Amino acid sequence: MDKAGILSRPTLAAVPWACADAGITGTCRRKAIACAALSPSVNSHLSYDPITLREVRVSDLELLRAHRNDPGTRVWLENSDEISATQQAEWYRLGGSKGVRIAVLAGADVGLSRISMDAAGGVALVGLDIFRPYRGKALAKSVFYATCNAAMAAGAKDLALWVFWDNRYAVRVYSAQGFAIDASEPVKWFVRQFPQESHPAPHAYIKMTRRS
Ligand SMILES: CC(C)(COP(=O)(O)OP(=O)(O)OC[C@H]1O[C@@H](n2cnc3c(N)ncnc32)[C@H](O)[C@@H]1OP(=O)(O)O)[C@@H](O)C(=O)NCCC(=O)NCCS
Repeated sequence: MDKAGILSRPTLAAVPWACADAGITGTCRRKAIACAALSPSVNSHLSYDPITLREVRVSDLELLRAHRNDPGTRVWLENSDEISATQQAEWYRLGGSKGVRIAVLAGADVGLSRISMDAAGGVALVGLDIFRPYRGKALAKSVFYATCNAAMAAGAKDLALWVFWDNRYAVRVYSAQGFAIDASEPVKWFVRQFPQESHPAPHAYIKMTRRS
């Protein structure tokens, strides 16, 4: 798992990515805020682990649901509700997993990658999670690098994502890949209680983009 010295591009599956995130809606108030404090830059000196992205199998569903329902995961998602096995089965039956890939490193499933192309194919919404046992091991940038490359290979010209401003580790990963706050998009606010917080409070959910 040590990434020191490894510099290689991931193997990319040339598969069409469906729109898995469609229909997600926010329930909280929207408000524009200035986020000029962040000035992301691409770190051209990063090296990346050789991540492979593979399709989701039926045998992955239990792992994916446990990951999705982990409070430490879903607190950072726009829709933070727990999902049932029935809901997940329906999601899978309807093709929801087409927008999700399992990130594999040296034979181990280390996280997941999300890509949903817009109807015209010009913009892809991207995202990633690292499975809990693999967090904090400097894998996120490699998985996200593979995700962005897969989206571009599938025809996306511009990439976009939504993230809680408080999710500093995720924001660092996205900034390192050249994503910047999209000031044209109003910030969404969701009430959440993040780790180390004593009570729920509104938190900014921001759009970041990387344009070609
Ligand atoms: C956010 C997430 C993807 C980051 O993955 P990770 O494997 O934990 O992070 P990494 O070890 O690759 O580190 C990424 C960056 O965060 C920093 N970081 C990670 N954990 C840290 C910690 N405990 N303390 C300080 N910095 C930390 C790293 O230093 C690194 O930044 P740098 O390269 O500029 O130094 C992962 O924690 C996760 O899946 N969280 C739950 C779901 C989620 O938030 N998904 C994203 C939704 S938008």
